[in-house]
Order: sequence, then C-alpha cells, then structure tokens
Amino acid sequence: MVLFKTYKDGSTPEIAVIGAGLSGLCVGVQLQRMLQLTTYKIFEADSDIGGTWLQNTYPGCACDNLSHLYNYSFAPNYDWSRKYVPQKEILEYLRSTAHMYNIYDKIQFRSKVSRMQWNEDRQKWVLNWSNLATGEEAVLEVDVVIHATGLFRIPRIPQEFAQFKGELWHSARWRWDVDLTGKRVGIVGSGASAIQIVPGIVDKVKNLEVYGRSASYIMPQFDAQYSNFWKTLFRRLPLFHTIYVTVWHYLFDSLFLVYRRTWPSSFHRALFYLIIWWHRRRQTPDPTLRQKLVPTRLLGSKRTVLSNTYLPALSKPNVEYHSDDIIKVEGNKITTADGQTQELDVLILATGFDTAANYPVGQWIGRDGIDIAESWIPSPRTYYGACTPGAPNCFMAWGPMSGTFHQPLTSLLEQQVMFMVKSLSLMMEHGYSSLEITERATTEFIKLSDEKAALAVPFGPTKATTQTAKKPLSSLKYWWGTLAEFNLRLSRFSSELFTGTGVHGPVQV
Ligand SMILES: Cc1cc2nc3c(=O)[nH]c(=O)nc-3n(C[C@H](O)[C@H](O)[C@H](O)COP(=O)(O)OP(=O)(O)OC[C@H]3O[C@@H](n4cnc5c(N)ncnc54)[C@H](O)[C@@H]3O)c2cc1C
Ligand SMILES: NC(=O)c1ccc[n+]([C@@H]2O[C@H](COP(=O)([O-])OP(=O)(O)OC[C@H]3O[C@@H](n4cnc5c(N)ncnc54)[C@H](OP(=O)(O)O)[C@@H]3O)[C@@H](O)[C@H]2O)c1
Repeated sequence: MVLFKTYKDGSTPEIAVIGAGLSGLCVGVQLQRMLQLTTYKIFEADSDIGGTWLQNTYPGCACDNLSHLYNYSFAPNYDWSRKYVPQKEILEYLRSTAHMYNIYDKIQFRSKVSRMQWNEDRQKWVLNWSNLATGEEAVLEVDVVIHATGLFRIPRIPQEFAQFKGELWHSARWRWDVDLTGKRVGIVGSGASAIQIVPGIVDKVKNLEVYGRSASYIMPQFDAQYSNFWKTLFRRLPLFHTIYVTVWHYLFDSLFLVYRRTWPSSFHRALFYLIIWWHRRRQTPDPTLRQKLVPTRLLGSKRTVLSNTYLPALSKPNVEYHSDDIIKVEGNKITTADGQTQELDVLILATGFDTAANYPVGQWIGRDGIDIAESWIPSPRTYYGACTPGAPNCFMAWGPMSGTFHQPLTSLLEQQVMFMVKSLSLMMEHGYSSLEITERATTEFIKLSDEKAALAVPFGPTKATTQTAKKPLSSLKYWWGTLAEFNLRLSRFSSELFTGTGVHGPVQV
C-alpha cells in the first residue's frame, strides 16, 4: 500500500500521543519511520520513558516472554543477555531505542492529560493537561489523539489493606528505602508479580507469609544466557535471527490452544497439566504445601506463569503459605479464614492493577457528547483494540479487546500502529479532516472476538475483578485466537472501514 505522507497542501495532522511506554514509543518511531511525520508530541506523566518497565522495579522483576520476541521488529536487539531478561535490561533497551530515533525530543515529561473532548465544529480534540512539576493547567487542540496509556498501570489496593499499620506498598511502587533484612514480611497475591517477588526477597527476610488465595498454574521456565557466540551469530547473520524469531513466534502462537476448551486443544492442555503437575511435584517435597498449591480453577481461566524459583522459595523454612482467604486486617496483624493470625512489619500487595481506572467515565468525550468509557459498560467496544466508534481521529495502542495470554505484546502492538499509520495516510490522501471507524466494522469484529471467546476456557472472573463488576473494562476482553490471525485480519486495511468526513483546511466557526 502506498502511504500518503502529507495533505495536498503539504501539511500533516497535529497529533498528541498519550504515554511513553513500550506502546507510545512504538507510535512515535513509526510515525517518523513510515510517514516522516514530525507534527506530534508525546505527553508522559512520568519523568522518563518506559511505563511498566520504569515503574515496576521490584526484586526479580523480569520479562516472561522470550526476550527476542519482546523487542520491536524495527529495532532488533541482538545483545539480549538471556532468554528472560530482567526489567533493567528492557528499560535500557527502550531508552536506547528512544535515543536512536530521537524520540526524547518529542516527549513532554511530567505532563498528564486529564480530559479530552472532540469538537465537531472545529474537527479537533481539545485536551486538558497539567504540568505535574509546576501544577500549571493548560489546554491544547490537536487533530488526532493516540492513547498509549497502558492497561497494567494503576495499582489495585483492596480496601481492607488500607488500614494496615506497618509498612505497606504495592508491587509496582517498590519501596527501596525500606530494608527488608530480618523483617517479618507478608505478600498478598499469586499472580506473575508475586511469583517473581517471593524468590527475590525470601533470603533477606526473617519470615515470609505468602497469602495466595488462588494458586496459579506454574510452568517451568527454560531460561538460559545467550553466549557471545549466539550474540555474534545474530548480529552477523540477521537472516538467521529473523528465522530464529519467526520459529519461536509461531511455536508460542500454538499455545493459544492451552486456553481453548475444544477437543483439538486436548493434547496441548493435557501436556500442560502434566508438565505443571510434574514441576510442582519435583519442586515441592512437602505434600501439605503441595496440596495447597493445586489450582482450583481450570487451566486457562487465568494466565499461566513461568518460574523455576517460586516453588523452591515457598519450601524454605522461613516461609508460610496461606491458601485461605484473609478475613481480618487489624493493626499490623493479618487473620486468615483458618483462624491463624500473623504479625508483620511489612505488607506487600501484589494484588494486580485496576484496569477499569484507565478509562474513567467523564474524561473521554467523543462525537455527539458520547462518553466513551460509559459506552463501554458492561464491556468495551473496539475495532481490534485500535479504535472505537464515537471517537473520530482517535486511536489506541494495546486498547481493550486486543491482548492475548500466550504471546508478548510487541507484534500485536506493531500491527495496531501500522493500522494507525495507514489510517492517517488515508486521511491525508482524501483530504478528510476526520475519520471514524464504522459501527458495522466494529460489530463484525466484536462478533468474531465473541465467537473465539466462546471456544476459550471462561476467563476468571477472579475474586479481585468481581469487585469492580459495574465499571467499564471490568470484563477486559482478550483475543482468544492465534496472534497470526489477529495480525492478518487487522492488516487487511480498507477505506470502507471508516466514515471520512470534513475537508482538511482552516475551519471557520
Ligand atoms: C510487572 C509487569 C511485567 C510485565 N511483563 C510482560 C511481559 O513479559 N510480556 C508482555 O508482553 N507484557 C508484559 N507486561 C504487560 C506490559 O504492561 C506491556 O508489555 C507493556 O509494557 C505495556 O506498554 P504500554 O506502553 O502500553 O503501557 P505502559 O507501559 O503502562 O505505559 C503507559 C505510559 O502512559 C503514561 N500515561 C498514562 N496515562 C497518562 C496520561 N493521562 N497522561 C500522560 N501520560 C500517561 C504512563 O505514565 C506510562 O508511562 C507486564 C506488565 C507488568 C506490570
Ligand atoms: N514478567 C511478566 O510477564 C509479568 C510480571 C508481573 C506482571 N505481569 C502481568 O501483569 C498483570 C498483573 O499481574 P499481577 O501479578 O501484578 O496481578 P494479577 O495477575 O492480577 O494477580 C493479583 C493477585 O492478587 C490476588 N488478590 C487481589 N486482591 C486480593 C485480596 N483482596 N485478597 C487476597 N488476594 C488478592 C489475586 O487473587 P485472585 O486471583 O483470587 O483474585 C491474584 O492472585 C498480569 O497480566 C501479568 O501477566 C507480567
């Protein structure tokens, strides 16, 4: 497809990208690479790029996808140190990519967008934003907005823990100023964050109380370092690297079957059950503890996690695993349903993220005054997580309905960003001042997505997500097919997907 890089008068749309994490950075680079577009600005609330990888610094924080799949295709990193790299290495990769493409110049740090409203007459988005350093508030008009605000960003702090009287923090806000040496520490949760933190702190603390009310399915992690031989091979033979990445991509893509409940997935599911059982049995000698670690939900109703160190950490003499619900938090004491009470110095909440809070009602107002977040109750309506009806000239990177459990975000994200690039090109080619995804295209995608979901193991709801049942995104939807299919379908671009209106040029009101 030929890309149109300017309007007929040589101008390009003014674009505001919100967020400078993995997604926002990808958007910035591709606007420059694919469209040579420079009329964009990235608003970032934090003081550096990285998002997830800047905010999550807890001990043990690492990628749980193969590192060579967790980088952009346009900036392959031949030097990843190992198969599953630690957080710092990913952050460094994102920083160096941003430097390589001069993206830092485009980012306005410590700047938070608080509200945006579409002005139909002016064919522009009106953004309210504030400078978090000075407290100043300002308004900006732009032609196009791109949300790259992330989903796992706002810590979920269950109310019952707010009154805990010792030191308390969330996994995504690690308190490095508190030394855990010799302390009595509790950790709530059994998701991917908790599973990485427990082995990261177990040898430091005096006692570790692990509150894991719903045990996870834990797979072994086949981790290893990449030797200099491998790094040189990747660097000298980029084609070999491409083949290596492609083979792993498709191998991992077949794992979507683990989350399916139809008969062709029986082999994958049985194999996973077997490996997980064997891993648990091998790594947990104590039968009482082992019994507590048997998940009660179906395999696939929650993301399986990888770890070689979590189960051995739970078996250490200074660790107690509590599978019963927490029923009381009083002072610095925690009581579980089996009547046991523990006194703690520190409580760490690895209780996940409030995905509903990413799109609050009243802050994203589209055409005809449509409150987008409200229109998403009880569940989001998007076109491949990249845009939504009612919001002209607005795109999302990793928007709702687009994540998968079995693949890293990167390849899906790049496909969404290509969709944005093509849409902007279409706008410029036809001289439209606005472009909006049609209801028809969206409804067709939702039907397809629902058909896939019907074949999958019912996802959750976890005990935590049921608490937010009336909020948008409480039923954060995923894509339950292969990523190859998602990407192929999204890559089939056509002007018929949109309603294009207006004529580009100065607007007289
Ligand atoms: C601990 C952890 C580990 C993970 N590991 C993996 C993994 O191994 N593989 C994988 O595929 N995924 C993983 N994920 C998911 C991960 O979030 C994504 O892979 C990816 O990093 C998301 O990037 P993002 O840019 O979309 O969002 P984020 O990284 O959350 O970045 C969003 C950015 O937007 C900014 N922002 C948000 N709202 C505003 C606003 N209103 N104004 C201004 N700025 C704003 C934020 O400050 C942030 O910097 C992990 C998540 C967590 C929490
Ligand atoms: N390297 C990686 O790949 C990596 C690392 C970390 C995170 N992540 C991703 O980030 C996302 C969030 O992961 P996460 O582990 O932070 O969160 P999570 O998967 O949402 O898990 C939260 C955990 O906290 C528990 N919990 C919540 N509220 C509770 C309460 N009131 N009392 C007791 N337990 C409570 C939950 O139990 P219930 O299930 O019973 O509600 C669950 O075990 C996931 O998609 C994950 O894959 C990835």
